[in-house]
Amino acid sequence: MDTDKTKVQSIIDKHQGLKKNLIAILLDVQESFNYLPPEALRRVAKALGMPLIDICGVATFYRAFSLKPRGKHTCLVCLGTACHVRGGPKIVEELERKLDVPAGETTKDGQFTLETVACLGCCAIGPVVVVDGEYHGHATIRKIGPILSKYQKPEAA
Ligand code: FES
Repeated sequence: MDTDKTKVQSIIDKHQGLKKNLIAILLDVQESFNYLPPEALRRVAKALGMPLIDICGVATFYRAFSLKPRGKHTCLVCLGTACHVRGGPKIVEELERKLDVPAGETTKDGQFTLETVACLGCCAIGPVVVVDGEYHGHATIRKIGPILSKYQKPEAA
């Protein structure tokens, strides 16, 4: 994938003077491209004078970063203990079926990235599905369609 070099450079420039603010730069790159393109990581490494291997170490350590292109929407399903016993795995199966993608992957149309997570800290409303930061508690298989359709609105002409 071609990376917009100007965009990456402007992010780096924005952080000039804030040396060693690697995580802030990577967060901005992640937000701009929805992942960390390899070319962007090379440019950041060069700009900060850091070995690329160190940049990659940080990029793979934090869950906020992705080395693969992510979907426009992020769909998280909690598989912590409380959500698991209340049907979390069935929710994951339904989402995998409806989105036609296994957990951990992004749909072919680039709309959704489906992920599973451990406890989100709101066990009382489990099983929990979180789409783009919006919590959907007491999730059931029947609620999955309406939840997804909320984010599948056709683009305005
Ligand atoms: S186990 Fe799902 S929110 Fe705690």
